[in-house]
Amino acid sequence: MNVLILGSGGRECAIAKYLAASEGIERLYALPGNGGIAKYAECIPGSVMDKECVVRAAKEHGVGYVVVTPDDPLAIGMTDALESEGIPCFGPDRKAAQIEASKSFAKDLMKKYHIPTAAYEVFTDTEKAISYLGTQRMPIVIKADGLALGKGVIIAETLDEAEAAVRDMLEGGRFGESGRKVVIEEFLTGPEVTVLSFTDGKTVRPMVSSMDHKRAWDGDKGPNTGGMGVIAPNPYYTDEIADECMRTIFLPTIEAMRKEGSPFRGCLYFGLMLTPDGPKVIEYNSRFGDPETQTILPLLENDLLSVMRATTDGTLGDITLSFRKEASACVVLASGGYPSSYEKGKVIEIGDTPDAEVFVAGAKLDGGRLVTSGGRVLNVTATAPTLKEALDKAYMAIGSIHFDKMEYRKDIGKKALEA
Ligand code: AMP
Ligand code: GLY
Repeated sequence: MNVLILGSGGRECAIAKYLAASEGIERLYALPGNGGIAKYAECIPGSVMDKECVVRAAKEHGVGYVVVTPDDPLAIGMTDALESEGIPCFGPDRKAAQIEASKSFAKDLMKKYHIPTAAYEVFTDTEKAISYLGTQRMPIVIKADGLALGKGVIIAETLDEAEAAVRDMLEGGRFGESGRKVVIEEFLTGPEVTVLSFTDGKTVRPMVSSMDHKRAWDGDKGPNTGGMGVIAPNPYYTDEIADECMRTIFLPTIEAMRKEGSPFRGCLYFGLMLTPDGPKVIEYNSRFGDPETQTILPLLENDLLSVMRATTDGTLGDITLSFRKEASACVVLASGGYPSSYEKGKVIEIGDTPDAEVFVAGAKLDGGRLVTSGGRVLNVTATAPTLKEALDKAYMAIGSIHFDKMEYRKDIGKKALEA
């Protein structure tokens, strides 16, 4: 079967690697792909947001299955467009993708189905939002309703900061259309855990747990990013907590989506906080995490394409997921300045990294050389029997990689080692 993957990040690079090794793959294509994905897939130029172009490319290349992983094409109904042309896909339809694309949709769903999450209110009117803030305890969390590259969340320490954030989003156009509606929610505390899960809308199969590092700088300082590094498994996520999450969060969410007439198929990302009152949902994503995927897939023992297709066919119940009982660590190498402005076009040199996998994210081939083209440039992943060894291997490999103004966090996994 010919398979097409949409996207151009490190996540898609990892997925391409494991799809290329899957059973039954004849040809693997990527649209648009990147300088690293090109090693595993034939790259087709085009935009992941252009439904006509994607449908045409799929037909032209005799594609029998399309893997849609970035949030934006899911939110505009890329899988609906492909499936209406008879091309099955991995990923939720437009309606189900709202679980990520609209935070107010997700919050209302959780309220209706008693899924534990932070208390909240939704506003489009500045004055109403501000008078509500006056009744709340600080710190408080202000979130843009729509997609904002992981950056639409402000944690305000004071009432002044909270008011400024609300004005910025509702009146100042910060985050554009995504910020025309805001969710104001209670500030929760506790360790954060990410659980990616495959689901066919009836069965949910969680993958190994992980811990993201969202802040740009060491010590969890600096602005929020898409993620600067991940370790797996997450030491805070015990078997007991996993059972509780399955009972109170995962199954109720899958069932809620089905009852709402939008069964979720694909990968559902649970961003959780283990609060003193039990696990609560911080966010849902309608897709694989980035760089969670680059951390977790190296541990997956199943054939990736078979599991993906089972989410589409509704046969996930027949599959048992299995992961190597090892630790995995992924460190993101970023362009200096990310997540704000940064330079592009820096030549990347990658020496021998026998103990690590280097997934290419924001880089393209330019006359045979790999050059930087994005904020998060490379993702270096290593696995080992212990987390400490996995981290040592990943950081050792980074010693053989260079590009001008390369930046990365030196403390990925530190908190997990101390846990
Ligand atoms: P999100 O994009 O919703 O995952 O939020 C980004 C980050 O903001 C999360 O990973 C948390 O660290 C933090 N955050 C979001 N919501 C809350 C909350 N209600 N309480 C405390 N921290 C939060
Ligand atoms: N690493 C966080 C995300 O993919 O949303």
